[in-house]
Amino acid sequence: MTLLFEPITVRNLTTRNRIWIPPMCQYSCDEQDGVVGNWALVHYTSFAKGGAGLIIAEATAVSPIGRITPLCAGIWNDEQQIAWEAVVDSVHLNGGKIGIQLAHAGRKASTHAGWTGSGSVAIAEGGWETVSASDIAFEGYAAPRALALEELEGIKSEFVEAAKRSVTAGFDLLEIHAAHGYLLHQFLSPLSNTRTDIYGGSLENRARLLVEIVIAIRAAIGDDLPLAVRFSATDWIEGGWTEADTATVAKWCVDAGADLFDISTAGLSTAQKIVVGPGFQVPYAEFVGEKVDAPVAAVGMITTGTQAEAILQKGIVDVVMIGRAALGDPFWPIRAAQELGQAIDYVPKRYLRAIF
Ligand SMILES: Cc1cc2nc3c(=O)[nH]c(=O)nc-3n(C[C@H](O)[C@H](O)[C@H](O)COP(=O)(O)O)c2cc1C
Repeated sequence: MTLLFEPITVRNLTTRNRIWIPPMCQYSCDEQDGVVGNWALVHYTSFAKGGAGLIIAEATAVSPIGRITPLCAGIWNDEQQIAWEAVVDSVHLNGGKIGIQLAHAGRKASTHAGWTGSGSVAIAEGGWETVSASDIAFEGYAAPRALALEELEGIKSEFVEAAKRSVTAGFDLLEIHAAHGYLLHQFLSPLSNTRTDIYGGSLENRARLLVEIVIAIRAAIGDDLPLAVRFSATDWIEGGWTEADTATVAKWCVDAGADLFDISTAGLSTAQKIVVGPGFQVPYAEFVGEKVDAPVAAVGMITTGTQAEAILQKGIVDVVMIGRAALGDPFWPIRAAQELGQAIDYVPKRYLRAIF
């Protein structure tokens, strides 16, 4: 038995293998109402057919101004929740499990999807004023408004309401997006958070909003569902957020009720100097995994079954995530099983004669 195809259990979720699909924005809400439709249904169901253990649905905004683009998905109202429920049902009917990434884009909201342009969408063209920890702009984007202390309770409640809606919609796992330079990462990093109140300054203060959100979500959803946090373990900038900060805050998140850490990197600033290559973020997942008593997921340029299995065999990382390689081939898990000589019993029976 390979490790890649060994099930893993976190709280009441067991996934059939350790190949998870990471959140990937689809910018598919053409009516700009945050309501997912047929694209999401087909897209996520294809990963279930393809054999993934768990799919984490794309960054889904907890409020209208939390969307990265006007085309992004949301889960702040009934219509959006019901639309997600159809996606969840379809994934379940096809043998898969599905989580959702709850997100607020902060100063990186109100931007163009790759194919509609670049930079911020002007307010006159359907964009909106963005908010952040401080009023420092992401290079090339409109400047945000610094959130007032009294507004932070509202942000927390938006995450909690979205979490409750996600549970009602039937999702199997919730993930808080604290990575890639979005709102919670903007609070964590000293480069984007220059606040002088209890949400700025020390590491404890910068992590306060995230930790309070973890506590509030866990209180709202009870003990059954796993709660993950995605971090950018480093800003790849001198003086920025680091892997040591990530490990410390991840421990606080465990105490607050989080179960698993999904370790990515970067996205806070264009000043980042990333060293990219196969599995380039795996050492960061290992760093966190060695220091925190909770499972960790590695992601980033993991493209073959052999590579994925070798990452797990080191015994530190618990789950591998396959993003772009699975976009190109939703049957990646079935192909990886063949590559590793692993028998699996979830090739869809209607595809038993397929050539993978
Ligand atoms: C089209 C696309 C959309 C993405 N959207 C998100 C997102 O919504 N949330 C997130 O945390 N990461 C997002 N990412 C990053 C992926 O989750 C993943 O971390 C990244 O693609 C690296 O993994 P890979 O090399 O296997 O693709 C996105 C990546 C792609 C390619």
